[in-house]
Order: sequence, then C-alpha cells, then structure tokens
Amino acid sequence: MDFRVSLWDLQSSMETQHSLFINNVHAKIKAADPSLHLALSSNAKIQVPETPGRDVQVLVSQYHPDKKGLSTAEGQARLLHDLASIELQAFELALRTLFEYPEAPKLFREELAALAKSESEHLQLCLDGMEALGFKWGDWPVHLTLWQAVSAKDSLLDRILIVHRYLEGSGLDAGNHLLRRLNGVSLGISEAVLKRINTEEVDHVLFGSRWYHNISKQEGLDPEKDFPERLGRLRFQLPKRFEKINDELRAKAGFTHNEIQSLKDLRESILAPSRRINI
Ligand SMILES: [Fe+2]
Ligand SMILES: [Fe+2]
Repeated sequence: MDFRVSLWDLQSSMETQHSLFINNVHAKIKAADPSLHLALSSNAKIQVPETPGRDVQVLVSQYHPDKKGLSTAEGQARLLHDLASIELQAFELALRTLFEYPEAPKLFREELAALAKSESEHLQLCLDGMEALGFKWGDWPVHLTLWQAVSAKDSLLDRILIVHRYLEGSGLDAGNHLLRRLNGVSLGISEAVLKRINTEEVDHVLFGSRWYHNISKQEGLDPEKDFPERLGRLRFQLPKRFEKINDELRAKAGFTHNEIQSLKDLRESILAPSRRINI
C-alpha cells in the first residue's frame, strides 16, 4: 500500500466532506475542528458548495410561520432556533472565507478560525437551550440570507465588510435591542444564551473593524474614504437591515464616527421609500 497515496486520498476526500458539505447540524459541529485544521493547513483554495448542507427545511424568511410571544416556551425556543440558524451561517461564512482566501495574512486566518470556533459554540448553546425547552432543530424552517449575501467574486475587504462589519454588526444592534426589550421578561436559560452571545459578538465585529482598517492601509487605501464607497457599491448585495444603529456598541466594536454615520445614511435611504408609501 502506498502510504502517500492514501494520505492524499484522505486529504482530498476531506476537501469535499468538511462542515460546509455536511447536512446534519450535529455532525457539522463535530467536523468544525478538522474543517478548520484543513483550512489553516492549505495554501490553495478549497472547494465550497453553492449552498451549505442542511438537514431541515430551507425557506425564504417571509414564508416562515408566525412567531409566538416570548413569554411562552415555544416563543423562546423559536427565538433560539432563529438565532441558531444565524450562528450556523456565521460559522459557515467564517469557514468559507478561510477556504476561499488562503493568501490572507496568517494572523487574520488564525483569528478567523478562532471566531469560527466561537460561532460553532454559539450554535451549540442555542441547540441545547432549545432542547431544554422541549423543542429541537428543524421544528421550524431556516433561511440562508446571510450565506447569500456573499459571492465568490468578493475581494477580501468586501468579504470582511459584508460578514463582520455589516451582518455581524447589524446582529449587535438587533441583539442589544432585543435584550432591552426583554428587560423584565423571565427568559430562564434563553437569557443567559442571548447575553453571552451578544457580549462575544462585540469581539467578532471588532475583529472585522481591525482587519478592515489594517488591510485597507496595506492596500494603500484610506479606510475612512473606502468604507462609504465600498458600502455604497455593495449595498444591493446586502440584505436590508432596519435596526437602529447603536452608536455605543458600534464604537466599542471599532467603528469610527464617520463609519457609523455612513451606516446611518444607508439605513435612512433604505427606510425612505417605505416612509414615502406611508404618507
Ligand atoms: Fe455568534
Ligand atoms: Fe459572530
């Protein structure tokens, strides 16, 4: 038996059996470490599927069933299910970036792998919380909105802006708003999960801000000028976010005053047509 051939076979089979190709959510989490190891040890791009594997119904959000109130166990479990779907996509997007940008700075890739691992832990927390409430993954449909916001044509700066500064950043605004809204409602285990995730997400967004500024400068770009231009160019690729921008959290997550203003301007322009309809 040629040992080198069998190692090569193992490597190439892993390249199409990593977490992005796996359907079962528990098997995906289990494969997180070997998938991240595969990504970090490769100098070449690794194949990613057009859409990541799922073992539950995938449906555009607007066709998802109505939500129950958060004072009910079902409402809380549904919240955790929706969050689990977001955490899963966040994990997959981080892994995808590692697979698609082997040339990115080594430290960036190592920090991104740690971020991906943290997303897989958030996912597990949501699944456990849901089960403790008597529900399970697949009790409701999921969406792929976050995954669909990126493209193989993105530059590394595009990808950082989209995933970490826009999608995860919007998640920060929304998570904070939700926690404030729930103030006084007894959520039990769900509250602990939400608080931990929201705290750790600040670091994820900060990771995006730091590397966005860093790589922009390495490429000879002025990040203050580049951010509004790039955001404007990518805006039709991004899912619309209506959540109010939280200045304090955004500043904590590395956004400059001008960048926060650009996000507010974008939000205003998204809201403007619906306001006109209401008049
Ligand atoms: Fe997360
Ligand atoms: Fe995150």
